[in-house]
Amino acid sequence: MQFSDFGNKFRGGAGIAELMHDLASPITTPGIPVYELGGGNPAQIHEINHAFAQQLHDYANAQTNFSQSSTRYGPPQGHQEFIRSLVSMLNAHYGWSLTEHNIALTNGSQNAFFMLFNLLAGKCGSEFKKILLPMAPEYIGYEDVAVGEPIFISQRPVIDIIDDQLFKYRLDTASLNVSHDISAICVSRPTNPTGNVLSDAEIDYLDQLAQQNNIPLIIDNAYGAPFPNIINVPCSISWHENIVLTLSLSKLGLPGTRTGIVIARDEIIDALTQMNAVMNLSPTSLCAGIVNPMFADGSVLTLCNNHIQPFYQQRATDAMHWFRTAFAQLPALAHKVEGAIFLWLWFPEMSITAEALYKRLKKRGVVVVPGHYFFPGLDDTWQHKQQCIRVNIGGQADDIKAGFDIIADEIRTLS
Ligand SMILES: Cc1ncc(COP(=O)(O)O)c(C=O)c1O
Repeated sequence: MQFSDFGNKFRGGAGIAELMHDLASPITTPGIPVYELGGGNPAQIHEINHAFAQQLHDYANAQTNFSQSSTRYGPPQGHQEFIRSLVSMLNAHYGWSLTEHNIALTNGSQNAFFMLFNLLAGKCGSEFKKILLPMAPEYIGYEDVAVGEPIFISQRPVIDIIDDQLFKYRLDTASLNVSHDISAICVSRPTNPTGNVLSDAEIDYLDQLAQQNNIPLIIDNAYGAPFPNIINVPCSISWHENIVLTLSLSKLGLPGTRTGIVIARDEIIDALTQMNAVMNLSPTSLCAGIVNPMFADGSVLTLCNNHIQPFYQQRATDAMHWFRTAFAQLPALAHKVEGAIFLWLWFPEMSITAEALYKRLKKRGVVVVPGHYFFPGLDDTWQHKQQCIRVNIGGQADDIKAGFDIIADEIRTLS
């Protein structure tokens, strides 16, 4: 059977496909326990699960809600009441002046990135436009979304060594270059996989750069404020017509509902609305309907501030402690966890690739994500790309500790 060039893109083992497969069926070696430290599942936080379950119960008991949201197609822009609640909540919280024309919903924010990147980059008349990812490592899910030729250009960061087991990436502003073929700049903040949070000064710099070049700045806020608010350092958030801000209900605890949110100037929202109609008729509205009361009265923010943020902040502290214990005296560093749900580990003296380490760990029951997938658009031979892995720190504490011990054991034999 012959597939198109577009079809063949999806048959070659995309990194995000491998990651999601591992997440769905993490069977490794029969008879040995599995420590699932891969994937991007959020933590199971009792108060959060309970709050959403209650909401679902209330929703199901109100017959009119159900018939309005689920027995008919919604508009292609997304659930209108939920959009109105988001507009009011965000304007009240940040003093923005969003209108309902500035928000569209998508089937998860991954789906939003497929649409946004193909909307802005690729063949553009006689030119070929690209997306600048100003600081790799960057989110694995961007890598394979282009329908045509590769569309990403990215750049190495500056590495600050904080102590012998801790480091942090910083934007290399000195070598950042926006060439004429760049049509947007994009960053995840907090960053998946590293847990880095670009500082306000770094974001201001990128914002100015984008405006000077008359291109949008896309900020992927899947872990950011005001929800789910998985941030451990002070940082502000701004929006104006040149910024495209994406949010998601996934890391709030609802990845199964596939609900993404895009905040942008109306021209972009109109285009996404049309794309939603073509690709999905309309985006999923069931979850938007269920959680809408919590956004309308702002109680979702209290849940984030009282339960989600403290859980992950404590987990970041604990994970660093477990890491320092397991990897004492080994050539291993962790990126400072400023946000998100991961620990990004760097083994500067490792004698094999990250992929080979991933396979060895999988045989011993530890599922992680090899780091080389997180450098979309960085086509150079930087060794660092092969020296890192990503570990999800949202799971069971005992699994993380046991997983660290096994990873440390492998690194001991490989350094
Ligand atoms: C930085 C980042 N952006 C976007 C996504 C996509 O999330 P979703 O499609 O579940 O909204 C993820 C998921 O892990 C992510 O980590």
